[in-house]
Amino acid sequence: MAKKPTSIFICQNCHARYPKWTGRCDQCGEWNSLEEEASTPTPSKAQPGKRGTGLKTTRLDGTAAPPPRLNTSMAELNRVLGGGLVPGSVVLVGGDPGIGKSTLMLQMTCALAKAHHNVLYVSGEEAIDQIRLRAQRLELDKDPKALDQLDLAASINVNDIATTLEENRSLHVVVIDSIQTMWLESVASAPGSVSQVRNCAFELIRLAKTLGFALILIGHVTKEGALAGPRVLEHMVDAVLYFEGDRGHQFRILRAAKNRFGATDEIGVFAMTDTGLREVPNPSALFLAERHGNIAGSAVFAGLEGTRPILLEVQVLLSAKSSDGAPRRAVLGWDSSRLSMILAVLEARCGLKLGSMDVHLNITGGLKINEPAADLAVAAALISAATGQPTAPHEAYFGEIGLSGEVRQVSQTAVRLKEISKLGFKQAVIPRHVGTATARPKGPATLTIAETGHLSDLVRRFSPAAGS
Ligand code: TYD
Ligand code: MG
Repeated sequence: MAKKPTSIFICQNCHARYPKWTGRCDQCGEWNSLEEEASTPTPSKAQPGKRGTGLKTTRLDGTAAPPPRLNTSMAELNRVLGGGLVPGSVVLVGGDPGIGKSTLMLQMTCALAKAHHNVLYVSGEEAIDQIRLRAQRLELDKDPKALDQLDLAASINVNDIATTLEENRSLHVVVIDSIQTMWLESVASAPGSVSQVRNCAFELIRLAKTLGFALILIGHVTKEGALAGPRVLEHMVDAVLYFEGDRGHQFRILRAAKNRFGATDEIGVFAMTDTGLREVPNPSALFLAERHGNIAGSAVFAGLEGTRPILLEVQVLLSAKSSDGAPRRAVLGWDSSRLSMILAVLEARCGLKLGSMDVHLNITGGLKINEPAADLAVAAALISAATGQPTAPHEAYFGEIGLSGEVRQVSQTAVRLKEISKLGFKQAVIPRHVGTATARPKGPATLTIAETGHLSDLVRRFSPAAGS
């Protein structure tokens, strides 16, 4: 007797599975996050009589040609991809809504079309007219050469898209904007749900692998930083690129979180202008321009977001206590108890008396950091504000501070040093290397490294008068 199809309920947040619907996921505590999905029967045993064919195995040594690459004409994008787009590969481009993913991909598709590659851009979010308007704004419509080989379509139906792709076998690159809007009739849930996203992506990836075009899937990221719902997508694709930045600011950073064809610690920097995204070959210039010069109370911190390095500016403003009560500690983007600790350590171990002053601390770019590695940059900004001495230009900091004022080592030193150097900084102030378990950190050749064992060494870097 054929088994009745059953359904299961999957939490859209943590992917926990339940046989029955409940209002709250027991695993992650999220309310109302369960969605029904048809359960796929798990094959219990290999079917008797049905044997597979033996695999032809091969040796590890032998020649392997590097994959061919499509040049996107954008050096920053090429670098993040590992040297260009690999034909037949699948790339997921994630980022917050409105950050510029569609803009970046439209610019890329036009450049590829101009280089005589056949490109199809499928939008499930915008009508054709809206894409045309954007292209006009980007002045892409002025280039007849680019238009010949670029096809547009507005659809969310994956079956229709699949038929189109099978009929048009000369395509080199296909962009799907966005995977969350795609819909397969055979899957009984709404677009954007885990099962729709997974099945649509699976179908599109299968087509890309059989027909040999490069597939770009655009995906939105939730506030928590996970690709909405389908974290499972990350395992299905060859590369995951994140497009990030603060919408109030001009600059955007493209990072590879995963790349089967290149390194994952490369970044590409762009600036959003009136006429689209411009590449920023020298990001430190942009970054320093944002810093309004090297003023007292500002220090650059080399942090990590997950496994990804990011440079941030820590700003401190000190003022005389404004009220009779306790001094103000206004902290944006960092932990206020950690600030109190650093103030206490600076006072107890270095004699820098800031306890009676109002302290305003801000991490620029609207980011929130919770790494102890930011301690050294915060201390540098505080000492700089207290002494009126700016930190040295082109200097960045990272390191954890202990209660006796010692500067402790943090993880991923090499990644941070590479990022500091990549963004054009010349000097890194980092914890003193101790022990023999790890090698002494060595950054890129252009970077000078100043190892600091104690906070008082940091105070001494500012001025002889510091601390008085
Ligand atoms: P978009 O590419 O639509 O973002 P996403 O696809 O990631 O949701 O970009 C939207 C934002 O970019 C929008 O707020 C306007 C801005 N923008 C510019 O500043 N200049 C431009 O030339 C374009 C096309 C967009
Ligand atoms: Mg978009």
